[in-house]
Amino acid sequence: MRTANVILAAGSGTRMKSDLPKVLHPLLGRPMVAWTVEMAEAVGDQQPVLVVGHGKEQVKALLGDRAEFVEQKELLGTGHAVQQAAPVLQGRADAVVVTYGDMPLLRAETVRSLVDLFARERQASVQTALAMLTVVRDDPQGFGRVVRDAQGEVVRIVEEADCTPQQRALRELNPGIYCFDAEWLWQNLGQIPLSAKGEYYLTDMVGMAVEQGRRVVATPAPLDEVNGINTRVHLAEAAQILRYRVLEAHMLAGVTVVDPAATYVDAEVRIGRDSVLLPGVMLEGDTQIGEHAQIGPYSRIVNSRIGSRCRVQNSVVEDTIMEDDCQIGPFGHLRKGAHLGCGVHMGNFGEVKNSYLAPGVKMGHFSYLGDAQVGENVNIGAGTITCNYDGARKHRTVIGEGVFIGSDTLLVAPVEVGEGAKTGAGAVVTHDVPPHTVVVGVPARPMNPKPHTGERSKSA
Ligand code: UD1
Ligand code: CA
Repeated sequence: MRTANVILAAGSGTRMKSDLPKVLHPLLGRPMVAWTVEMAEAVGDQQPVLVVGHGKEQVKALLGDRAEFVEQKELLGTGHAVQQAAPVLQGRADAVVVTYGDMPLLRAETVRSLVDLFARERQASVQTALAMLTVVRDDPQGFGRVVRDAQGEVVRIVEEADCTPQQRALRELNPGIYCFDAEWLWQNLGQIPLSAKGEYYLTDMVGMAVEQGRRVVATPAPLDEVNGINTRVHLAEAAQILRYRVLEAHMLAGVTVVDPAATYVDAEVRIGRDSVLLPGVMLEGDTQIGEHAQIGPYSRIVNSRIGSRCRVQNSVVEDTIMEDDCQIGPFGHLRKGAHLGCGVHMGNFGEVKNSYLAPGVKMGHFSYLGDAQVGENVNIGAGTITCNYDGARKHRTVIGEGVFIGSDTLLVAPVEVGEGAKTGAGAVVTHDVPPHTVVVGVPARPMNPKPHTGERSKSA
C-alpha cells in the first residue's frame, strides 16, 4: 500500500503573538514542523506534502527538499487545505494520512498503527473509507466531538460550535488525524458543504462516508500526543515532553544523565556511551560528544564536536572542535573556530577563538588566544593575551612547538614565536622571536643575546 502524508500548516497561529510563523518556532533546536515531517518520513513511503500559507516562504526555506509544498492561498478550512494536495498526490498513493504542523508530539508508532488499522480494515472490506484516531478527555474544549450510533459505530464528527447540548457533553474527541482511502478521498473531497463559518471542514468526510454506506473505523490515541500547539505555554509544555523523550533515548543508549530535569539536549545531538551529563548542561544544535566524556555541571555546548574522555566544566563551547582527552574549565569559553588537539588542557577563565592548539598545549589560567596557531606542548602562562585586533583588522599569532610563554605576556600580532623560545613575565612581544631565544621586557628583546647553539633548551 503506497502511503502518503499531508501535513496541514497553513494557519496563521495568531495566539503565538509572534513575527515568526507558528510552525517554525523551535523545539529542541528544530522548527516545530520538522518534528511532524520526521514522523511522516517514518510512516509514509514518499516525501510528505506540506500545505503552506502563512509564512510560506520561510517554511519552504527552512525545510528545503524534505517536503513537497502546496500552497493554500485562502484559508478555507481543513477540507480545503487537504484538497490542495490532490494534484500532486492523485495516482501516487493508496492511503493518505492527514496530520498537522503544530502537533509535534505525535509519534510515528501511533500513526503507523493507524495506517495498519486502515490497511487491515480495507483488506477486510473495500467499503472502508477511512480510519481515524480518537481521544477521551475531561476537558473537551475546542475539539470536535465523535458521535457514535447505538451499535457503537462512528457516524460523524460535530464541531464544537455546531454541537447540540447532548453532543457537547460527549467526551470522545477528534484529534484530527486520519488515514483515508486515497481514491475515495479525492472523489469526495470536493463535495464538502460550506459550513456556517464559511469553511470546508475535513471532519465532514466522516459523516459523508457513513451516509454513502462506507465504513469508518476508529482507534484511541495517547492523550499527550495529540495536543496541538496554539500558544507559547503549549510550546513550553511540548518542549518539556520532547526533552524527556530525547534524554530517555540517550540514557537507554548508555549515557548517564544525573538530573534529567536540569539537562537540555537538542534533538540532533549525538552522545557516546558512558558519557556523563551533570546538572545544568545544554547541548545544542549540531553537537557530537564522544565516549566517556564528562560534561558539566553548568555548561553550554553549541554546534561542536567533543572527543572521547573530554571534560567540560562550567564552560561555554561554540562552533568548536575538541579532540580526545581535552579539558576545559571551570569558566572557559571556546568560540567559533577553536580547535583543541588531543589532550589540550585549558583551566579557568580561558578564551580561545579561531585558533588551533596542538596536542599537549597547556593554558591554565586567565588567557585569550585569538587567530593563533599554537604548536605541540606549548605552555601558555597565566594572563597571556594575543592582541589580534588592531582596531581595523585581525592578525595571526604563530607559536612554535615547545614554546614557554611567561605569565602576562602580550603577543602583538602579527607575530611569530619560534620553537623552543621563551618569553619573560610581562613581556610585550611586538617582533618575531627567533627559535630557542628568551625575550623579556617592553617591548620584548632577547635576554643576554648569545650566539645560538642550535641545541634545544632543556627547560622549555
Ligand atoms: C480541527 C478539527 C476538530 C478537531 C481539532 C483538533 C476541523 C474542521 N476540525 O479543529 O474536529 O477536534 O482540529 O485540533 O477539521 N489549517 C490549514 N488550513 C486551513 C485551516 C486549518 O492549514 O484552512 C491547519 C491549521 O494550520 C492547523 C490545523 O489545520 O494546524 C487545524 O486547524 P484549526 O483551524 O486549528 O482547526 P480546529 O478548529 O482546531
Ligand atoms: Ca487547533
